[in-house]
Amino acid sequence: MRYLILSDLHSNDEALAAVLGRVKRKKFDRVVCLGDFVGYAADPNKVLDRMRTLRKTTFSIRGNHDKVVAGIDGGELFNPPALYAARWTTEKLSKENLEYLRRLPPGPTVVDNLFLVCHGSPLDEDAYIFSDFDASMNFVQMNRVAEEIEVCFFGHSHIPSVFTLEADGIRVEAVRANRARLRLEKGKRYLINPGSVGQPRDRNPKASYAIYDADLGLVHFDRVAYDVGAARRKIHRAGLPPMLGDRLVVGL
Ligand SMILES: [Fe+2]
Repeated sequence: MRYLILSDLHSNDEALAAVLGRVKRKKFDRVVCLGDFVGYAADPNKVLDRMRTLRKTTFSIRGNHDKVVAGIDGGELFNPPALYAARWTTEKLSKENLEYLRRLPPGPTVVDNLFLVCHGSPLDEDAYIFSDFDASMNFVQMNRVAEEIEVCFFGHSHIPSVFTLEADGIRVEAVRANRARLRLEKGKRYLINPGSVGQPRDRNPKASYAIYDADLGLVHFDRVAYDVGAARRKIHRAGLPPMLGDRLVVGL
């Protein structure tokens, strides 16, 4: 089974369309979305309509922005531009899309008995995994949730990265290349972030995603150029905080 792994779309339809265009001829059986469909950019309905009508079976969980937009969380921890965008998004969403967000399940959860998915981390859907220390606590939690599972995909940090639990410690790698391949090894455990489709934060503005081949134990990371200027202009024209558009240009 091959999975298209998407995360942190953040209402950026230009980026999502470019990624779906890139994978059109690639082989995958299912789509997995790690949350944050909305927030920040100007096309929440287009992004949700596109995701809800994919022809492949899709497994999705909620992100912290989805929760605030859906009214599940008050957004007290959000910075002012993020909170403004969340409130704006709630007003713009169709009834169907708002209901879809409300019904998204929380992570962590196991997909097809093969791998774990969560938005922030296995310990806390709203927490970040940045360091080997964060990863170490979450490898323990992975073990508690599903002892036999060796791979967990997470999002939230918007940084394509791999944390590997090896015999002598934890290896931390940021995925810097526009294309990269990770071969998973038996006996090791992995926390893997595919990066963000709609708002990359690793100083590379290209949309980020991954394909996981569970049979071969391979993860393919890929970056896709898209019309960043168009996405930025829409944010400005919508009256959303301009910095939300400007940061797309630099990938931060
Ligand atoms: Fe996010």
